[in-house]
Amino acid sequence: MDGNGRWAKTKGKFRIFGHKSGVNAVKEVSEAAAELGVQCVTLYAFSTENWSRPQKEVDALMELLVKTIRGELPTLQKNNIRLRAIGNLESLPTACRESLQDALNQTKNNTRLELILALSYSSKWDMVNAIKKIAEKVTLGELKASEINESTINNALSTYEWPHPELLIRTSGEHRVSNFLLWEIAYCEFYFTDTLWPDYTKEDLYEAILSFQKRERRFGKISEQILEKTEE
Ligand code: IPE
Ligand code: MG
Repeated sequence: MDGNGRWAKTKGKFRIFGHKSGVNAVKEVSEAAAELGVQCVTLYAFSTENWSRPQKEVDALMELLVKTIRGELPTLQKNNIRLRAIGNLESLPTACRESLQDALNQTKNNTRLELILALSYSSKWDMVNAIKKIAEKVTLGELKASEINESTINNALSTYEWPHPELLIRTSGEHRVSNFLLWEIAYCEFYFTDTLWPDYTKEDLYEAILSFQKRERRFGKISEQILEKTEE
């Protein structure tokens, strides 16, 4: 979700106004995804690197997070959406952690869509933790180094419960991954749009999905093999 600050700037407003307006796009996207039968949406809301922004902006973002989570809880329940979170949640301010935990608990039986917030998240942070977990098992003799495979790594990451993403959308005209789900996006399709996040609507999501549907995902194979399979 990128472009909140620039969106505000074009309107002569403070950056936080852009973040506040970005909440509408979050609502649009979660609702549209649920309606379409998408099972998981991960929103990159705050990265490990975002802690280096001016303190005033960080504080305002954390405050907005608490307000949004509390305010949106009834809608999540109404739409049968389960809220999840990945990242270094312990680094969040207490009020944030508490309202988040409350929403995670209250929505835990919802089944229509898993809405995963990446908060104080970065993929390298996650990978370091995963490697520590695996190394610990090796040290304790629970796992042999020679037995480490892709599943070992999948299972040690904070995303172990979910399938790897099929489509990654980045808004605001930036063409970077910015430390997001690096392992998990190995075969992900990328979609870039110039739309700034606060302007993002359901239609923008439909457009991204339509583009995704037109792609041939070969996973290293050749086109003929893929076509053969779909003709079977
Ligand atoms: C939102 O957009 C992403 C967050 C970190 C909350 P930005 O704040 O990165 O907006 P730009 O890139 O400055 O326009
Ligand atoms: Mg940005």
